[in-house]
Amino acid sequence: MSYLISFEGGEGSGKSTVLRLLSNLLIPKGYNVVCTREPGGIEIAEQIRNVVLDKKNTAMDAKTEALLYAAARRQHLVEKIVPELEKDNIVLCDRFIDSSLTYQGHARGLGVKDIFDINQFAIEGYMPDLTLYLDVSPEIGLSRISKDNQREINRLDLESLDFHNKVREGYQELVSKFPERIKLIDAEKEIDTVVEESLNVIVDFLTTKQQYIRI
Ligand code: TYD
Repeated sequence: MSYLISFEGGEGSGKSTVLRLLSNLLIPKGYNVVCTREPGGIEIAEQIRNVVLDKKNTAMDAKTEALLYAAARRQHLVEKIVPELEKDNIVLCDRFIDSSLTYQGHARGLGVKDIFDINQFAIEGYMPDLTLYLDVSPEIGLSRISKDNQREINRLDLESLDFHNKVREGYQELVSKFPERIKLIDAEKEIDTVVEESLNVIVDFLTTKQQYIRI
């Protein structure tokens, strides 16, 4: 069976590292896992990513930003996610629609409902089967990324602490709205614990689905 599992979180939540370590644990268990990320993942979407995250683009309007993320999502979906799902793979995606709902809808104030609607045009009903939200306070998250000199600082990293607090608030609201799909992981814990807890959530989900199929 194929599933789309997304990873969400604010800056410095450790999503990318957790996703990489998780795939290393899932593959030996026999799961066909493919990892990808948004915005980007394929050439055209990486080009859109360069525009949307460029620090020089300080004049970018919030709606332009929302549309660019939706455009990158569309291209990545048709060119990468859907073909992988059709090959019966489990796609682990670093960010998906919930990033737009919380960053553009909630934190930028464009409205979660409007952002959901413009994204429907892009994703045509492809929603994640499961979402892991890595919850971390912006103070801790931002201090982690400032220590990581491999990581390039992008346009959204430069937003105020208030903006990042709103991002967290937006995610927490989504968790309470969609508790079946979105699972909160405390990402302030040690990385090994975060990976272990995330693995348990994913394996539980996959095992339940397989039992359901057997019945
Ligand atoms: P990235 O370098 O991938 O950061 P991270 O490691 O935090 O995922 O940058 C992606 C940035 O784009 C991040 O600040 C979140 C933002 N973003 C949105 O605002 N809306 C979206 O729909 C997506 C996918 C990302």
